[in-house]
Amino acid sequence: MNKLNTPRFEQPEVSANAYQTIREFIYNEAGIDLGSGKQTLVSSRLNKRLRHHQLNSFDQYIELLLNKNSIEYQMAIDLLTTNETYFFREAEHLNLLKNLVLQHQPKDRNFRLWSAASSSGEEAYSIAMVLDDFFGSRGQWEIFGSDISSRMIKKAKSGLYQCHRIDAIPKDFLRKYCLKGTGEYDGYLLVDKKLRAKTRFAEINLTKLLPEVGEFDVIFLRNVLIYFDNKTKKNIIRSLTSKLRSKGLLFIGHSESLKGMDLPIKLIAPTVYQKK
Ligand SMILES: C[S@@+](CC[C@H](N)C(=O)[O-])C[C@H]1O[C@@H](n2cnc3c(N)ncnc32)[C@H](O)[C@@H]1O
Repeated sequence: MNKLNTPRFEQPEVSANAYQTIREFIYNEAGIDLGSGKQTLVSSRLNKRLRHHQLNSFDQYIELLLNKNSIEYQMAIDLLTTNETYFFREAEHLNLLKNLVLQHQPKDRNFRLWSAASSSGEEAYSIAMVLDDFFGSRGQWEIFGSDISSRMIKKAKSGLYQCHRIDAIPKDFLRKYCLKGTGEYDGYLLVDKKLRAKTRFAEINLTKLLPEVGEFDVIFLRNVLIYFDNKTKKNIIRSLTSKLRSKGLLFIGHSESLKGMDLPIKLIAPTVYQKK
């Protein structure tokens, strides 16, 4: 092929104005505070959308985005969120859950846990393994996972994962709860059907009015508060706390803090709070 005829996509720069508009967009829609000077991050995350629409500038892209073109709107949210997660992340929380919470659960009703900001579902399924192991196969429990990213929720619902970063799954749990793929699924694992049956996922934006989801014994809200400013953090914790049973527990990420905030919860262990 003649090289001169090969279409080339020049990577456009994100101007200061364009950056400010995208920064405001993701703050208003998801509560995520990008901070200043993250033009390179924004450019690397959104460039494929410019290419997809054959646009030459971020100004053109913004026009499309703010036009409430719903596909682009969700795409941009999907791409601007950070979805890093893995099985048995911060596993001390799972030990705490077993030793501090599950022992004391009433036997006459479902134990309900919400993995809010669950990303692609590894957190929810890690907890599901712990619950099934603790309560036994007839155990009464359910997990609800949610995230703002439709792409992540789709992946979570499938329960299918590439076999990288699975080292933290205890070996007996791997044998008991993870099906190893073969043929075209070589290199993948599928979470056991009985765990998937008790774990459901939905798209929820935590900065908006929460839908009717019932009350939970425990809420995991880990590794997402770091993206919010104090005002957003406070609003989210208040609305999530309203979905906790009395004395229910809230787990946040190990590098996160709610220090000095006036909230209806009290610290009972590092990064673990109880509803007052
Ligand atoms: C870094 S992941 C954390 C996943 C998991 N909780 C963990 O600790 O491994 C953060 C997740 O928060 C989600 N997120 C960001 N803003 C959100 C919002 N306003 N509402 C709901 N989810 C949000 C992102 O889409 C992303 O999947």
